[in-house]
Amino acid sequence: MKQEKLMEEYFMLGDWLEIANKILKDRGAVLVLGATDTGKSICTLLFANFWAKHGRKVGIVDVDMGQSDLGPPTTMGMVLINKPVKSLKKVSADTLYFIGSTSPINYFLPTICGTKKLIDEGKKKGAEIIIVDTTGLVKGNPGRTLKENMIDIISPSHIIALQREDELEHILKNINLTDKIVIHRLSPCTGVKRKTYFQRREAREEKFRKYFEQSSFLEIDLSNLNIKGSYYCSGVVLGEEDLSFLEKTLMTEIIYAERTPEGIFIIIKERLPERFSGFFQIKKRFNTEKIIISEEAKFENLLVSLDNRQGFVVSLGIIQKCDFKRKIFTVFAPLEEKDLSKVFSLKFGALQLGLDGEELGKVYPGEI
Ligand SMILES: Nc1ncnc2c1ncn2[C@@H]1O[C@H](COP(=O)(O)OP(=O)(O)OP(=O)(O)O)[C@@H](O)[C@H]1O
Ligand SMILES: [Mg+2]
Repeated sequence: MKQEKLMEEYFMLGDWLEIANKILKDRGAVLVLGATDTGKSICTLLFANFWAKHGRKVGIVDVDMGQSDLGPPTTMGMVLINKPVKSLKKVSADTLYFIGSTSPINYFLPTICGTKKLIDEGKKKGAEIIIVDTTGLVKGNPGRTLKENMIDIISPSHIIALQREDELEHILKNINLTDKIVIHRLSPCTGVKRKTYFQRREAREEKFRKYFEQSSFLEIDLSNLNIKGSYYCSGVVLGEEDLSFLEKTLMTEIIYAERTPEGIFIIIKERLPERFSGFFQIKKRFNTEKIIISEEAKFENLLVSLDNRQGFVVSLGIIQKCDFKRKIFTVFAPLEEKDLSKVFSLKFGALQLGLDGEELGKVYPGEI
């Protein structure tokens, strides 16, 4: 069978070559779908290398924020290539978009939004073909919802569907045939290796460790930035009198509080006891229905992204110290002081990380 060697250890077989040739003429966006461990990422690289070898400027968009090859976990990335590359791990992404979580669950909107932004960025930079590598979330309602909407936003000219049996059919069957999307159903190569939960976690921690290797501690003044992903800085700071009322009512140390359009947001030093009263008095004093209480510990070691004006990553960082009142955070980041001027906003993530990349905990949407 005709084979083409594109990376030392992987080959493109005859039927893959035929598809790659067809897409070479059509151009446009190509979406790679498949459950976990079906060979999506290697397939993406093989196709991208084929087109690059045939003279195309190829955009690779990796929207797998869990096992991302381009950039650290929790991000999605885009790179342009005009000659074959051996591995995406060795390529540094042209553009990164921060999701903040290692899974798309609870983060469908940022995933879809980031996918669109990265594809647009690839087109803007001159990509003739853009191939999109995806997460393995294809099962059930979440998988269908995410992938249906992704197809809608990308409007691909081709879909490469890698399936062992029929696990993608609930998505593929209902694609609007008038959209002129060509679907290529392929079986995963026999050589595809499965990864366990622990191997995935270990791989993520290793990637984080490498990413933060050359980091230092930076003081960041949040008052000059847009703050995303938290109630913090979305309202008006409460004064000393209100703070001491809250302290007396909740009988705990209050670090900071704001009146936001959604209610009163309070950061406390220690976890509240299981049974306590006082909510009624707080609601009455501030004439609000909602009280959002967050512990200071939720912000400790929290992963954040320092984004530029376009909403793309300048650098990730790990929060080390928060002075909520002065709005000064100390962040561990691989960023030089002089490059802080590129930072336009700070986006809070959902993962707490040790400085060595260890995953310490999670913060759920709406908790901070
Ligand atoms: N065409 C191939 N020939 C030989 N081995 C392969 C091939 N494709 C993949 N593999 C092996 O299987 C492993 C997993 O493949 P890959 O990372 O592409 O899967 P994936 O579907 O992207 O996984 P994930 O669900 O984690 O994103 C690779 O590291 C490689 O060792
Ligand atoms: Mg992959």
